[in-house]
Amino acid sequence: MTPQSDTAVMAPSYPWNRGTFFPHESDVPRKFRDGGGVSLDHILIRGELRPWYGQFAEVFSPVSVRSSEPGKTPRPLVVGRAPLMDEEAAMEALNAAVEAYGQGQGAWPIMSVAQRIEHVQRFLARMRLERESVVELLMWEIGKTWADACKEFDRTCDYIEDTIHELKVLDRRSSRFEIVGGVVAQTRRLPVGVALCMGPYNYPLNETFTTLIPALIMGNTVVFKPAKYGVLLVGPLLDAFRDCFPPGVINVIFGRGRDTVGPLMQSGKVDLFAFIGTHKGASALKQMHPKPHRLKSVLGLDANNPAVVLADADLDLAVRECVAGALSFNGQRCTALKLLFVHDSVAEAFVERLSRAISELAPGMPWEPEVSLTPLPEPGKIEFLTALVDDAKARGARVVNPGGGGVNGTYFHPALLYPVTQEMRIYREEQFGPVVPVVRFSELSEVVEHVRDSNYGQQLSLFGRDPEQIGALIDVMANQVGRINLNAQCQRGPDTLPFNGRKDSAEGTLSVSDALRVFSIRTTVATKASEGNQDLVTDIVRHRHSTILTTDYLF
Ligand code: G3H
Repeated sequence: MTPQSDTAVMAPSYPWNRGTFFPHESDVPRKFRDGGGVSLDHILIRGELRPWYGQFAEVFSPVSVRSSEPGKTPRPLVVGRAPLMDEEAAMEALNAAVEAYGQGQGAWPIMSVAQRIEHVQRFLARMRLERESVVELLMWEIGKTWADACKEFDRTCDYIEDTIHELKVLDRRSSRFEIVGGVVAQTRRLPVGVALCMGPYNYPLNETFTTLIPALIMGNTVVFKPAKYGVLLVGPLLDAFRDCFPPGVINVIFGRGRDTVGPLMQSGKVDLFAFIGTHKGASALKQMHPKPHRLKSVLGLDANNPAVVLADADLDLAVRECVAGALSFNGQRCTALKLLFVHDSVAEAFVERLSRAISELAPGMPWEPEVSLTPLPEPGKIEFLTALVDDAKARGARVVNPGGGGVNGTYFHPALLYPVTQEMRIYREEQFGPVVPVVRFSELSEVVEHVRDSNYGQQLSLFGRDPEQIGALIDVMANQVGRINLNAQCQRGPDTLPFNGRKDSAEGTLSVSDALRVFSIRTTVATKASEGNQDLVTDIVRHRHSTILTTDYLF
């Protein structure tokens, strides 16, 4: 054995590249280790929770585990299994939703708004009881920190409450008659039909429920396909879905999109398509529908949100917001800041402070306190991010922060790349992960050109203090993106604000109130204001001959 020489070069040690970074297998909660983890082995169709006898897919955690044998690399942890439904089972789920809708005459679409609200309230009460299990699965399935997982759960509950409140407001407004140009009319918002709701893995609960709940509460029946990762966490909610909604109103499909969702779209029986994911995935699915004009879509898609740090920006604030904007949940947010444009005059100082701020973020396991950087759930992601970093380095950028771009199994340490130029892949491609590219600019026209040429148009952030300059930039950028954030990172919330995008970034607008509109269609009952018609309408309303044409309203 050769003794270690004083001059030997040691690989720097960071918290994330130590052998103890991943937990020992004995530290993993028992339910996630013995016998292969949590078994999601029932499917919800037609109001029945049926045992699934078909194939299953193993569910891997981004968290690997160390074994007792010394020198062995940590192994991927299987945290459970979920049904791999096939076309036949998926079609049965869809047909159950179609029957429950019953051409608009099913129990659910004709139910009064007040009663539908009661069902959703019952569901919310049951959902709250599952907080702990859902939060735990969010950590183990997608690597979301405990604090963020709690936030996701609570935000979803708030969203449901706000939706109920907003629906009452909407319903009160629609209970009135209007008289225009000699016509008496009442307009109500009614369901559209059968909705297919699909959410993303980064917010498998929240983003899915921001379409699922409005779709349900407006009287549509639903086929719900959970995200690619974050599937097991639906398990604790299945009983509540079954118990709180009439049979067939909500049906859940698990499995590969190509085996399940494609055939649903091809059947032409989907009326509403709510999808949060890539624009390529959305386009492919939309094109499968035989009657695209009948398909109403609401889509939240890719984004490549830039930040623009102007010469007079408050750099401490800009760094704080950019770190949170670029690296919350390891940059796996559609609203994350993906490209930072920084004025020449402050670029060096900004990059230095940003590097320091990144070094202060704690890497670790999702359940550890204070941790904000965690392992990534997507297979192939580490290689993809490494390739982006290598490409940028080969074209003249350097990784500024210590250990940036380093890898330990499923963990990728954030890489602050500087200076990034147009030739690099990272300038155009959405990383959806912990790579933070900084571009220097001297003329604002360079930034404006980038935003105009981009295929995406979700949001952007402006950091600066000069009202004249910021005002002018707002005017230039307002027709390029859906939201401009001043001295703040990009984000979807508060959920009452419109969430949308231009170009390939979205179709339709979501917010608590917009979602109710997206998942419904206005239907008007109108008559000429003659005495006979007035008597007719009065009689219908007074003697409750219609559940639609009424003046009832909700408190
Ligand atoms: O992934 C996209 C989410 O809608 C982002 O929501 O900005 O509140 O994290 P957030």
